[in-house]
Amino acid sequence: MTATVTSTSAQPAPTGITFPEGFVWGAATASYQIEGAAREDGRGPSIWDTFSRTPGKVYAGHTGDIACDHYHRYADDVAMMADLGLGAYRFSVAWPRIQPDGTGPVNVRGLDFYDRLTDELLAKGIDPVVTLYHWDLPQTLEDRGGWTARETAEAFAEYAQIVHRRLGDRVATWTTLNEPWCSAYLGYGNGIHAPGVQNPAAALAAVHHLNLAHGLAASALRSAGARNISITLNPCEVSPLDPANPADIDAARIIDGVANRIFFDPLLLGRYPADVLEHISRITDLSFIRDGDEALIHQPLDVLGINFYTPSYVSAKAGAPGAGDYPGSQGIAFRPPVGPVTDMNWQIEPASLNRLLTRIHRDYPGTALMITENGAAYPEVPSENGEVQDLRRIEYIDAHLRACHDALADGVDLRGYFAWSLMDNFEWAEGYKKRFGIVHVDYTTQERVLKDSAKWYREVIRRNGLE
Ligand code: NOJ
Repeated sequence: MTATVTSTSAQPAPTGITFPEGFVWGAATASYQIEGAAREDGRGPSIWDTFSRTPGKVYAGHTGDIACDHYHRYADDVAMMADLGLGAYRFSVAWPRIQPDGTGPVNVRGLDFYDRLTDELLAKGIDPVVTLYHWDLPQTLEDRGGWTARETAEAFAEYAQIVHRRLGDRVATWTTLNEPWCSAYLGYGNGIHAPGVQNPAAALAAVHHLNLAHGLAASALRSAGARNISITLNPCEVSPLDPANPADIDAARIIDGVANRIFFDPLLLGRYPADVLEHISRITDLSFIRDGDEALIHQPLDVLGINFYTPSYVSAKAGAPGAGDYPGSQGIAFRPPVGPVTDMNWQIEPASLNRLLTRIHRDYPGTALMITENGAAYPEVPSENGEVQDLRRIEYIDAHLRACHDALADGVDLRGYFAWSLMDNFEWAEGYKKRFGIVHVDYTTQERVLKDSAKWYREVIRRNGLE
């Protein structure tokens, strides 16, 4: 008897994928990165105004003074979003526009801007997704200790209510903080972001006060009637370099603790993990954590935002200096990127996004997730015919969307995807040198040009999937 062989040598045609009905397709930005108008309509100074003016802190002395001039061009920008078919737009509100000193009097002209923007979005059928804090802390609050001070968390809850009072009748989704990991560890740990402090104990106090700020604001927003409350984290997808080596496994546990579980656990489980408390108590006394704080942080979350770009691999290595953005990481080595990288020198490994999403689903069951940022920096600019051929960005996003789809198939409750970023913008310490946009911005003329990735993304949205 002979077996029937039915296979052929031809490769199977690439299969298209379709996302669930109602999957949200969006793009994201942040106030300081795009708005400009830094001194207009009563806006107060933020820590990024101060930091970007400090010599040597930001590439080539760039600042957000003008940025993409979105403050004046928002209507055209919203028209561009509509042309792309975006279902949602994630933007942040600049606290120093609303309360120039961080507390006290409200600057109505600041609220007016976000009111106009919200109405413009709704008129075009685009869902506004508001982030209340994307790193532009009013300088006055920093002068009083910034995120190392409990008072800042309390002030944040008041500010959140002010914005909600004005926009709550039209904005459904409220994200308290964007990437508190960066605010704490880059702002107060290694100092590469504003306010530029280098002090691991201060960074850990900041972590707690950011967690607390979220809890206080989420509770206040819910009491005021908000129904879709969220926070955006940027988990470090960390693996032991040698998965069979117990010392590497322990190094990964330590990094996972200070990078991820220090946020996830109090937010979603209502307590800091014991091993993390033990680890950080060797760096600082923990008196900033008061009785009852963990319960305050543990508010119901309607959706958890995840920003994702690249994985990390760590190993135990005697004498390794560790990384300034991971308190207590001496003796742990971070493997330099392997294989293809983006212009940020960030390793590209889409499968790590699937690993991350399925891990969150496993460890924090019942959590609805949203990719609130994903994308890549590449330097392409318009060619002579005016086109921006950014094939690598298309490949990056395509591959990460496939990883999202795999996660859905694995049972992850993933609700949507926001590309970072709608347009090229001020990339923090890298200034305007790094371009993350699917739309190119010419900073001299402020002209916007759709890159090939934007045209491709428009088709993805239209099709609700990939070819
Ligand atoms: C995360 C931050 O939220 C955003 O502001 C930044 O531009 C991107 N990552 C790229 O670094």
